[in-house]
Amino acid sequence: MSAVPQERSLVTAIPGPKSVELQARRVAAVAAGVGSTLPVFTARAGGGIIEDVDGNRLIDFGSGIAVTSVGASAEAVVRRATAQLADFTHTCFMVTPYEGYVEVCERLAELTPGDHAKKSALFNSGAEAVENAVKIARAYTKRTAVVVFDHGYHGRTNLTMALTAKNMPYKQSFGPFAPEVYRVPVAYGYRWPTGPENAGAEASAQAIDEITKQIGADNVAAIIIEPVLGEGGFIEPARGFLPAIAQFAKDNGIVFVADEIQSGFCRTGQWFACEDEGIVPDLITTAKGIAGGLPLSAVTGRAEIMDAAHAGGLGGTYGGNPVACAGALGSIETMRELDLNAKAKRIEEVMKGRLAEMQSKLPNGDIIGDIRGRGAMIAIELVRSGTKDPDPAAAAGLARACHAEGLLVLTCGTYGNVLRFLPPLVIGEDLLNEGLDIIEQAFATV
Ligand SMILES: Cc1ncc(COP(=O)(O)O)c(C=O)c1O
Repeated sequence: MSAVPQERSLVTAIPGPKSVELQARRVAAVAAGVGSTLPVFTARAGGGIIEDVDGNRLIDFGSGIAVTSVGASAEAVVRRATAQLADFTHTCFMVTPYEGYVEVCERLAELTPGDHAKKSALFNSGAEAVENAVKIARAYTKRTAVVVFDHGYHGRTNLTMALTAKNMPYKQSFGPFAPEVYRVPVAYGYRWPTGPENAGAEASAQAIDEITKQIGADNVAAIIIEPVLGEGGFIEPARGFLPAIAQFAKDNGIVFVADEIQSGFCRTGQWFACEDEGIVPDLITTAKGIAGGLPLSAVTGRAEIMDAAHAGGLGGTYGGNPVACAGALGSIETMRELDLNAKAKRIEEVMKGRLAEMQSKLPNGDIIGDIRGRGAMIAIELVRSGTKDPDPAAAAGLARACHAEGLLVLTCGTYGNVLRFLPPLVIGEDLLNEGLDIIEQAFATV
């Protein structure tokens, strides 16, 4: 377990005086475009706790945006990365290769869905993985169009901004964007006009109709979707939607790409969220949880598709850095040893149980319009009482109240009205429940 004591403790106001001092330096030195959810400066972190420079210990329901699933100082990650640091920090895999990179690709071939021959290429960030998936799909199909979905998020680089749905804050003033990107509807059950039970069939029919009529299926290189949409509000496409889209891709020679950057690596109680509906993607993009906090991402997929790009066409100076690869091997070892898929499912059971109780019992519980997500990727969508009108102020108010009590939570959603919970999968159940107590109390403040 982590060296950081696994208990919440507040010894100053949040943020404390040392954080306030550091924040002043940060404002002077760091570009304003880089935001922070909570200006509390970290001293150390591990398990389910973030300890700040003032000695406060916060319960972590964010995992650095779904990254530190094994904790922020997991023993196997630290051990392997430290050993690798002492051996060598970098050679560049494109200059002289090393075993760790190959081993990560071997693990990815084992862990991702499907028993076909697979290959991988490693990169640094999620956005870079998504960009490379597009390059690979275009090289393979010799087509250009890319289809993405309403509420989708794929990153902040130029191409991935084009793939991302939400304008503010991700795209505003940063255009023009990459061409040949088309957006179609997704089965957002809670907000589907004819109800969640119809959303899967109707939204997939509508999406397929738009692709066929407006783009032409044989112009489409790739369809890219998050099996659980992350930044868009933890939207689980209504059942039937993903299989219909995957089948359409298969029937039309389109590369089906599952962006599992947020939902992958045990986060939803499966190695990959697409497994819940038996989807076998042609390509899968991963990052975040893969390496226990070290920067690593990957594209994994059918060998014949992955091999379509010419030699030298893929890569980058740091892609698959040896220390990050060592971290990934430590992270995967921890996930297997601690059975973190089972842990994620237990977190879902506890969280959904408690949140449903809040919804039915609290005087203002009806502002919880929807409770959704899977595993340790759970969210509540906040609405104005008696309506489905998004209430971003309630989400922000709840987050503020939680932060003041030493619980780190994040918001998300196209309408900014979703409070999302992404605890490390190794969090203790006592901390999990204490965090939920704080959320419950926070409802009194909105
Ligand atoms: C589904 C998904 N794709 C891509 C990205 C971009 O990853 P990164 O921030 O590492 O570039 C994210 C990040 O939140 C994500 O959730």
